[in-house]
Amino acid sequence: MKNIFIASFLILTCFSVSFSQSKLNSVKTSPILQESPNHTWWKEAIVYQIYPRSFKDSNGDGIGDLKGIISKLNYIKNLGVTAVWLNPIYQSPNADNGYDISNYRQIMKEFGTMADFDTLLYELHKRGIKLIMDLVVNHTSNQHFWFMQGRTSRTNPFYSYYHWWPAEKGTPPYRPGSFDVNGSAWTYNKPTNSYYLHYFSEMQPDLNWENPKLREAIFKMMRFWLNKGVDGFRMDVISFISKDTIFPIITPKILNEKYNGSWSQYYASGPYLHQYLRQMNRDVLSKYNIMTVAEGAGVTTKTAPKFVDSDRHELNMLYHFDGVDYGYLPGIYKKLAPNGYDLVGLKEVYSKWDSIFEHRGWGTIYLGNHDQPRMVSRWGNDSPKWRTLSSKMLTTFILTMRGTPYYYAGDELGMSNIKFDSISEYKDIETINMYKYLKNHGEDVHAFLEAQKMTARDNARTPFQWNTSVNAGFTKGTPWIQVNPNYKTVNVAIEARDPNSCLNYFKKMIELRKQHKTLIYGKYTLLDKENKQIYSYTRTLNGKTILILLNFSPKDGRTNIYQNFTNAICLIDNYNESLKIKINEPVQLRPYEAAVFELE
Ligand code: GLC
Ligand code: CA
Repeated sequence: MKNIFIASFLILTCFSVSFSQSKLNSVKTSPILQESPNHTWWKEAIVYQIYPRSFKDSNGDGIGDLKGIISKLNYIKNLGVTAVWLNPIYQSPNADNGYDISNYRQIMKEFGTMADFDTLLYELHKRGIKLIMDLVVNHTSNQHFWFMQGRTSRTNPFYSYYHWWPAEKGTPPYRPGSFDVNGSAWTYNKPTNSYYLHYFSEMQPDLNWENPKLREAIFKMMRFWLNKGVDGFRMDVISFISKDTIFPIITPKILNEKYNGSWSQYYASGPYLHQYLRQMNRDVLSKYNIMTVAEGAGVTTKTAPKFVDSDRHELNMLYHFDGVDYGYLPGIYKKLAPNGYDLVGLKEVYSKWDSIFEHRGWGTIYLGNHDQPRMVSRWGNDSPKWRTLSSKMLTTFILTMRGTPYYYAGDELGMSNIKFDSISEYKDIETINMYKYLKNHGEDVHAFLEAQKMTARDNARTPFQWNTSVNAGFTKGTPWIQVNPNYKTVNVAIEARDPNSCLNYFKKMIELRKQHKTLIYGKYTLLDKENKQIYSYTRTLNGKTILILLNFSPKDGRTNIYQNFTNAICLIDNYNESLKIKINEPVQLRPYEAAVFELE
């Protein structure tokens, strides 16, 4: 490590992928690391996120289901991932694809039965894979029994399970509601002559966590799933659960800054948030060997430690939005700057977040999920020339950073954005209701649709691409959302046979992470930070150093690292030919090249 900036005189040859492959293949199993307060299974986990609706349909209704997932467990096992996070599979009218739950203890009928769920859990565990469930408790569906009851009268015991503004006090102080056609978080309910609060659509009323009975009901429901043996929860917008029930007026400055974060930061700073999380930990979480990860909407580097510092006894990890929201222009919908994003700033974001968890707490790393466009389209380059290379480069990033990696199903194939042309092709409430909102306000919907090609959530929700047969082998019926036409070349069947595919690269990267404790626990150090094309960093642990070099651009690039490579071993490279480094010269990288070295 000391030698890192010292010019030296050695030629380093990075052998081709086939070399790396044989090296990797020689190590069969991953070492099992000792559990200690600092070393835990969830820090070592590699989480694979499955969007059940789009993964595999078993009965031809065009909707993915639990039996479909069960039929693909060997595929999942073979990837090497150690945990699966399932998006919500509970009963739901699907206004927001399962994020509007009408019964927390039943399986959505399109997805199967509780018996299917039990089988899935059993079969995952049999393969040594943990199951992380989505926990959606900031809001329910408006079809949930509690809300159906509560909305009938102010004296109904379930009325106080939700937040209301009595109409005799006038119209409620404005707050923004995502997914609302009018952009408002309040909707009037006639039988109670009051407005209910919904931070998301009007079909998703917010639960009143200020009510201890509601909290107890939620905790009971959590125990129900934990007692079945699930291994943890990904907590949907958990940062929003506590509300200032005076509902003060929110300043226009805060309101105007959705993609600069300020209204989500406001929503994430409810007065009793951490009290509720500590109660949840004390009464429920601490009783089980599980992991928890918060969706950290509105959480900043300042507030993050409050959630995940282990001394606070709240949650294990959170995922922030500073990375995935980086580069959006200010405005009410997501729009990318025409010339893309600036890598120097992106490095700053990830480096700053890494430093927050350097000594306390634990982080996460992800580039895509069901709420984001496909990672290769957003952060790499989905043109035919660069799709594979840039996708592998991003996979290298996710699996070499510190923090538990969350990897979204389909990204291992290099699946890319479908880029719908017309509003009629979209299924997502976010896109559809924003379109209506803009139309009603006389805004430019064409510009919005153009922006959505890069940013819409439906880009990540198209069916998983299994093979070249009809509908990519996802369904024999009509898929609920269009299949990306690139499935003829981008699919499991083809990629499994190709040693240089994205799929096989992902597997190798997983093995690499499992073999090197340094990639899990090692300190992260950013190098060459002003470099506009190349992201380079080291991970170090107990005197071992791993160097990671990633070219984020479609051009040759060079680092400003003069390094002593005397004993460097190239662990993996996403190009097939070797990377040559000349004497006393900075390392040269080819377009979208990713290379990982072990230094002694
Ligand atoms: C979270 C989910 C997203 C959902 C929203 C409302 O952000 O990830 O899919 O629409 O919460 O539940
Ligand atoms: Ca089905």
